[in-house]
Formats: sequence, structure tokens, C-alpha cells
Amino acid sequence: MHPTLVNLVYLAAAVLFILGIKGLARPRTAVQGNLLSAVGMLLAVLVTLLDKQIVRYEYIVAGVLLGSAIGTTMAIKVRMTAMPQMVALLNGFGGGASLAVALAEYVARMGEAPAAMGNPFGPGAVGMVALAAIGLTALIGGVTLTGSLVAFAKLQELLKKDRSLPGGTWANGLVAAVAVLAVAGLVLDPNQGELLLAVTLLALVLGFGLVLPIGGADMPVVIALLNSYSGLAAAMAGFILGNMVLIVAGSLVGTSGLILTRIMCAAMNRSLPNVLFGKMAEGAEAIDADAIYAGKVKSASPEEVAMMLETAKRVMIVPGYGMAMAQAQHAVRELMDTLEARGCEVLFAIHPVAGRMPGHMNVLLAEAEVPYEKLLEMERANPLFEETDVAIVIGANDVTNPMAREDKGSPIYGMPILNVDRAKTVVVIKRSLSPGFAGLPNPLFARDNTYMVFGDGKKAVLDMVAALESAS
Ligand code: TAP
Repeated sequence: MHPTLVNLVYLAAAVLFILGIKGLARPRTAVQGNLLSAVGMLLAVLVTLLDKQIVRYEYIVAGVLLGSAIGTTMAIKVRMTAMPQMVALLNGFGGGASLAVALAEYVARMGEAPAAMGNPFGPGAVGMVALAAIGLTALIGGVTLTGSLVAFAKLQELLKKDRSLPGGTWANGLVAAVAVLAVAGLVLDPNQGELLLAVTLLALVLGFGLVLPIGGADMPVVIALLNSYSGLAAAMAGFILGNMVLIVAGSLVGTSGLILTRIMCAAMNRSLPNVLFGKMAEGAEAIDADAIYAGKVKSASPEEVAMMLETAKRVMIVPGYGMAMAQAQHAVRELMDTLEARGCEVLFAIHPVAGRMPGHMNVLLAEAEVPYEKLLEMERANPLFEETDVAIVIGANDVTNPMAREDKGSPIYGMPILNVDRAKTVVVIKRSLSPGFAGLPNPLFARDNTYMVFGDGKKAVLDMVAALESAS
């Protein structure tokens, strides 16, 4: 194919990626955005296949068929609540693929032109850039691969303890420094294949070392960061292969992952180094839940809550991970409809890290066709709680924990929360007094204005709807 035509199609693919990401910013345009990006990727893959002088298509076709079969099965089978794990796994595969490209390209080029004939990667600076790209792709790709596998294992609860490798942060720093030195050595002498092997092994160890100690509520930030790394690794692989569209797509993933990381750090009021090297969950065990709850927790039945709701003028619904677990979004929508039919204003307060992935609550509520305008971000929702008659917290815990605001010694101190405790009455629907993701007790449950409704989220909400309907 003519190079200009190839580049034009690559440009079209890049534009489709950007339009796709723009579409993903809103639930209403998200499906279309996803489709645009997928078409862009299809174009890029087809043109690349036509452009390169491919000798045998069998392996490529077999790979595409196998990959598509696995991808389709995963997309259909994986539950919404397990999506973060799946994203972690896909990030890891992205990193692993870039690592494989780097290793394969090194072996192929060294095989084609023995180093005795000069640098097989090109003369002078060109060869050095290509070698640096190979070394850095192996480094970032390796870290992404094992780091993402650890993140997957943690979210899947296969790995429950957060522990450092011997030497902790210092050892990680040392491993990273040695790996960078090995990349530099490779750039200076392409014959030193064992240096590339060392970079790969060190990167794989570093991935474990960096993610193993991080746990609890910090995992979403780590996933976003690993997503960004997988993009960086892909962009580097694009430099190795001289493939424009890989560089563009990788950079888009790299930067959007970084932006997401920043947004999430801000939502938890933490700096990135603190997330990566600090220990958020430390101290959780020292807090005595019994002392907080003893004799102060009041429970109410769904029917009693319905009586409170009968006179409410404004109700704020605060969903969390438990709403996803209970698949209660349609029931919540029914509650909204019933209350609105009685003249009550119903709004939703959405915390940026409620649930287990960015936008988790928005996606579920959009699926139940709750109008997007009713979903208020934390900054808009918080001032309204004081003028809210009933705040209904459904399966949310950490994102409403007043310790974050009031208890300087608490591990989550400083994390912005939804100030539900400031509503006139608070109703918390969950099955028990068990803690949420951060492992902390929640003093909200013991407040004077709080009533606990113990039970499954969906059933409790449907019982409230039934009681309200029979009252009217
Ligand atoms: P959590 O603090 O994890 O609390 C969820 C609560 O839901 C649990 O306490 C649980 O209590 C309840 N629950 C579970 N199943 C239920 C069911 N069937 N019916 C009713 N309740 C049920 O959730 P959150 O407030 O949404 O906070 C999210 C946490 O996860 C934060 O710490 C956040 O940092 C972290 N995180 C967020 C993300 C992103 S990006 N959103 C990703 C990973 C982690 P019971 O067991 O008593 O029912």
C-alpha cells in the first residue's frame, strides 16, 4: 500500500479514537463512543495487515479467532461488579503484549544482521533510540504485566494480605535503578542480550514489589495507573515498530489513564506518592467497632421508613457498592418514580469512588434509566444535604464515613465524603454492620438521626415501594 494512504487511514483511526473517548464521557453517548473507537481499531489493524509484507496469515488468523472468542466470552460472562478485575487483567495483557513485541523485535533484528556489521538497529542516534525503546518497553511492559496480575488477584480476593517484598520501597527503588542502568547498557552495546533479559526479569519483580503492598481503598488508583502504563508501553512499542497509530493509541491510553489517576487521587484527597508508598489501611484494626456502635444503633423496617418518606419533600439517594451487589438499581428507580408521583423531589448523590470502578454508579443508574440530570456530583450534592428530609444510603459505606471529616487519627482522614449525616433523617440499607472496602467501622450508623434497615438492598427498597404504594 502507498505510505501516504496508510498514514491517512492511521490518521482517520486516531481521529476515531479521540471522538470515541469524547463519547465515553457521557452515558448517553458512551455506546456510540465505544463503537467509534472499535471501528478506528479495526481500520488500524486491517491497514497494518495489508501494509506489511505478511508471508503467512495462518498464525494471525488463528490468534485473532482465539483472542476474539476469549474476549467475547469474557465480555458476556463477566458480571458488572467484576469489571475492575477484568480491566486489570486486560491492562496486564496489554503490558505483556508490548513486552513480547520488544523481545521479539530484539531477537529478530539481531538475527537478521549480526552486530559485527554495526548496530543492527541503525546507525548512531537512530539505533540508540530504537534500543532505548526496546529496553523501556520491556521495563514498562513487564511492570504492567505482573503489577496488573497482582491487582487482579487482590480485587478477586485471591490475595487478601497487603505485604511488601523484602526491603520494601527501598528495594523497589534499587530494582528500578538497576533496570534503568541495564537499559542504558543495552543502548551502548546492543550485543549484550543478557541485559535485556535482566531488564525483563527485574521489571517482572518490580511489578510484584510495587503493587503487593498497596491495598484496600487504593486499588482503583493503581488500576488507573497501570492502565496508563500499558498505554505508555504500547506507545514505546510503536516507536520500536515505527508504527504511527500504535504511538497515537498508546499515548491516548497513557494520558487518559494519568488524568483518571489524578481525578481519583483528588477524590480521596491523597497525593499519588502517598497512594503508592503510603499505607492507607494501617490503623484500621486498632479502631474498636463495638465502642462506636454499642447501644447506639437503631434499626427500622422498610414499612417504618415508608412512613418517614410519606411526608418527605426532598429525598437524596446515596448508592454504593452494595447497590451493585444487590442489583438494586431498577428497584431504586421504582422508588424514585413512586416518591415523585407523591410530589417529592428525588436526587442522587454520587461519590467519585463509590462502587468498585470509576462511573460504576452512573452506569448502573443509567441502565435503570434514571435521568442523568438527577445524578449530582459530590460538590453539588453536599450543600443540599442540610435541606434534605431523608437521605437513603443504599449499600454505600466508606464514601459516607464521617471519620474522614472528623477523626484525625483515622486512616481515611481527609478523604472527601458525602455529608449524608447532615440530612434531617438518614436511612442506611445494608445487611449488617460489616465494614466496607477500607475495613473501617462507620460512626454514621450510630448517629441519632440514622436508622439502619438490615437486609438485601433490592428487597428492602422493593418493600419500601410496596409500603408506599399501599399507603396511597
Ligand atoms: P463500601 O465501603 O465497599 O461498602 C459497601 C457496603 O455494601 C458494604 O459495607 C456492605 O455491607 C454493603 N452490601 C454488600 N452487599 C449488599 C447487598 N446485597 N445489599 C445491601 N448492602 C450490601 O462501598 P462504597 O461506599 O461504595 O465505597 C467504595 C469503596 O471502594 C471506597 O473505599 C473506594 O475507595 C473503594 N474502591 C472504589 C473503586 C472505584 S473506582 N469506585 C474501586 C475499588 C475500590 P454489608 O456486608 O453489611 O451488607
